[in-house]
Amino acid sequence: MCGIVGYVGPQSALDVVVAGLKRLEYRGYDSAGVAVLADGGLAAAKKAGKLVNLEKELVDRPLPAGTTGLGHTRWATHGAPTDVNAHPHLDNAGRVAVVHNGIIENFALLRAELAERGHVLASDTDTEVVAHLLAEEFAVTADLAEAMRLVCRRLDGAFTLVAVHADEPDVVVGARRNSPLVVGVGEGEAFLASDVAAFIAHTRSAIELGQDQVVELRRDGVTVTGFDGRPADVRSYHVDWDASAAEKGGYDYFMLKEIAEQPKAVADTLLGRIDASGSLRLDELRISAAELREVDKIVVVACGTAFHAGMIAKYAIEHWTRIPCEVELASEFRYRDPILDPRTLVIAISQSGETMDTLMALRHAREQGSKVLAICNTNGSTIPRESDAVLYTHAGPEVAVASTKAFLTQLVACYLVALYLGQVRGTKWGDEIHVVIRDLSQISRAVERVLGTMEPVRKLARSLADKNTVLFLGRHVGYPVALEGALKLKELAYMHAEGFAAGELKHGPIALIEEDLPVVVVAPSPRARSVLHDKIVSNIQEIRARGARTIVIAEEGDEAVAPYADHLIRIPATPTLLQPLVATVPLQVFACELATARGNEVDQPRNLAKSVTVE
Ligand code: AGP
Repeated sequence: MCGIVGYVGPQSALDVVVAGLKRLEYRGYDSAGVAVLADGGLAAAKKAGKLVNLEKELVDRPLPAGTTGLGHTRWATHGAPTDVNAHPHLDNAGRVAVVHNGIIENFALLRAELAERGHVLASDTDTEVVAHLLAEEFAVTADLAEAMRLVCRRLDGAFTLVAVHADEPDVVVGARRNSPLVVGVGEGEAFLASDVAAFIAHTRSAIELGQDQVVELRRDGVTVTGFDGRPADVRSYHVDWDASAAEKGGYDYFMLKEIAEQPKAVADTLLGRIDASGSLRLDELRISAAELREVDKIVVVACGTAFHAGMIAKYAIEHWTRIPCEVELASEFRYRDPILDPRTLVIAISQSGETMDTLMALRHAREQGSKVLAICNTNGSTIPRESDAVLYTHAGPEVAVASTKAFLTQLVACYLVALYLGQVRGTKWGDEIHVVIRDLSQISRAVERVLGTMEPVRKLARSLADKNTVLFLGRHVGYPVALEGALKLKELAYMHAEGFAAGELKHGPIALIEEDLPVVVVAPSPRARSVLHDKIVSNIQEIRARGARTIVIAEEGDEAVAPYADHLIRIPATPTLLQPLVATVPLQVFACELATARGNEVDQPRNLAKSVTVE
């Protein structure tokens, strides 16, 4: 996921841009570069590797001082992560610089046409064609914004572009189709960035750019049009994440900070959505009660951790609303020719709001006439903008690639949607809803309690640092929790980890059990559905009898599991459907500690990006 920063104003463009790129490092990248307009010309520097390499280059070969510029951190798609392929890309005359996030699908044809017209392209990237096309159009228009509009109309694919031209030293131009781009408006200065984290140290006044829009930044203002040149309506908003919120706050890793923020994130996601009488108030949904009463099927589409949230949501939705609910991997959804119609409500869950697989799934659903409700953590991002309605989670910036607080708040948001559907459709009485809301209101404290008892989990994790495999088992809502625990271990500790429905053990996976193999078991509450609990106790006995090292997550007071648990991790007693909110936390801590014990980079695990904006 590339990072983009553009700036025009009174400050040193280089200082603002490099600092902004540092705030975007979490997005994952493998090269970086900057360009500055100064003395009637344009100067650029770019290097493969991390930002420190670029900063060293800037010390060895300083750029001239300028107050207009742009920068980029690249996560390679077309072309290896080399100096030449790093952004920005320039035209042959060195008068235009452009940076890009996304994929230009027709770049090969454009590249061939440019070569026929005498352009010499130096890199293997799709982006470079844009620099040459902008140079051609600018030679006619002498207006970079107009040149950008003309070029964008010739591009296919997903792209966010930011460009400068030496002949317009006080202008930065941006364009977006599918990939994220936000504008920051300051006093006599303006910013462009992939994410507000890049400029919230300077301004919290932001403008979200819509699909197929071009923005022209000048010191005294911002102009937004469509690709057709017509003025565009834009929405300004206040970024309530302050600069420190995106810092580590004293923790070694963003992930540790974000795990610790979960009680507040859960509480914040409930804020303002429950009225004084204890009923739900989700006016923000923008789907009428009448429309919700017409819904006869729900399909959840998401990826990764968000998909696991959707799996848990299914249990609550079906139990509280009696509406059939399917949960689909977004990357598979539209290729299986799903059956959708106006009475199908599609719920797209995404922390970043930019996951291309999920975006393309919701587009497919809307083309089939279904309404789409986004559950998202990033205000103004593409997925909520392209949905019929959105319920924002209020987890605050989640910087670590491994999703933690976003997951818990996705669950809270899913519960709220399920309860609201039950409320408007009359499948849940008001007093029943009040009970669930009361239980939800207590989760924040329950998570706080779990966080206070994690030292044995950290100690256990460190003792397993030399293991190659950990299995995870669960039943009912504990099964998606097992999958989430396995995903966390894979993406952080680079260990083989696999989650199973415990009932599936005897159908194959039990052959994996061997002496001292660590197996984490998420035990359901014995209070609600004792049959489920009895079966999981049997599962624990079966694997222990075959030598497994049993690590059992069970609620306080559940003594039936104790004789078969080599390690017992206690969580507060919670209603069955809400148990994932507390049972997941030890698994997050476990994975993070194990990754640390193995010397891994926790916040930016290898090969991963925070937001996957390519299919
Ligand atoms: C989870 O820890 C991963 N970072 C990944 O699976 C993530 O949940 C997935 O890519 C979906 O991202 P989104 O929520 O931003 O759409």
